[in-house]
Amino acid sequence: MVQKARDFASHGAHGPQGNVTRGTTHTQRMRRVDRWMSGTRAGLLRHGEPLVVDLGFGASPSTTVEMFTRLRSLNPALRVHGLEIEPERVERARAAQRDGLSFGLGGFELDVSPAPTAVRLFNVLRQYREEDVEQIWSLLTSRLAPGGFVVEGTCDELGRRATWVTLERGGPVALTLSTHLATLGAPSDLAERLPKALIHRNVPGERIHAFFQAADAAWAQSTAVAPFGLRQRWRFMAARLKEGGWNLLDDAHRWRLGEVTVAWGDVAPGR
Ligand SMILES: C[S@@+](CC[C@H](N)C(=O)[O-])C[C@H]1O[C@@H](n2cnc3c(N)ncnc32)[C@H](O)[C@@H]1O
Repeated sequence: MVQKARDFASHGAHGPQGNVTRGTTHTQRMRRVDRWMSGTRAGLLRHGEPLVVDLGFGASPSTTVEMFTRLRSLNPALRVHGLEIEPERVERARAAQRDGLSFGLGGFELDVSPAPTAVRLFNVLRQYREEDVEQIWSLLTSRLAPGGFVVEGTCDELGRRATWVTLERGGPVALTLSTHLATLGAPSDLAERLPKALIHRNVPGERIHAFFQAADAAWAQSTAVAPFGLRQRWRFMAARLKEGGWNLLDDAHRWRLGEVTVAWGDVAPGR
């Protein structure tokens, strides 16, 4: 059943901030964003005893456990805390607790200690209102430890297509697209997995629409390198985008993974 979007603060100022939504999840579907965090933010996550929060882990804690395993391999002192607004899901998840991994009841207020170095928020804002996103982002980023970040995104059931916004204390900094190349028709196939702030903005006149148009055009031009494989094709596409003036924040090391990260200012909503 599709639930109607409500004001996210409808629980009042004292309980967990947000609304209970469907708990749909699937094992391994967050592997792309986990790989990005452990690859591009390794320096930060290796430092000290960071706390990483998985906010809205869903009906099963499996993707939180997977993130814990991945990030702990960077730093055995890193801790992961899964937060959920639905109490029965928290109770069930507690069976998976272990040294360094815990679960609790909570919402956007991120009432945890110490302040989190990283927050992963995936497939949570889908059922919220677009006009609430900015306020939710501000609440989350205000709770971050210095140098910390939030990844707020969406993926498909099997995790073959994922997109996320990276936010720092000052606000959004980038949009990342990450895809399984063998099942991709064109880069704009990812548009249906955009985060809430952009999902309704893939229309003429919006920057994200121009970005997908440019990416599709570069993808179409890249057929000459297709015999060298799909990774080469994606790399070629990203290189063309960069030459065309798009402010890509990553390089060929990430492009070969079927990833591309563009500065938020190049795709932010608003004409
Ligand atoms: C669709 S599931 C996503 C589960 C998992 N993150 C994934 O992507 O596989 C969304 C979950 O977020 C929870 N949720 C929604 N709003 C929340 C909030 N403000 N704070 C904590 N959890 C929230 C819902 O109760 C639901 O269990």
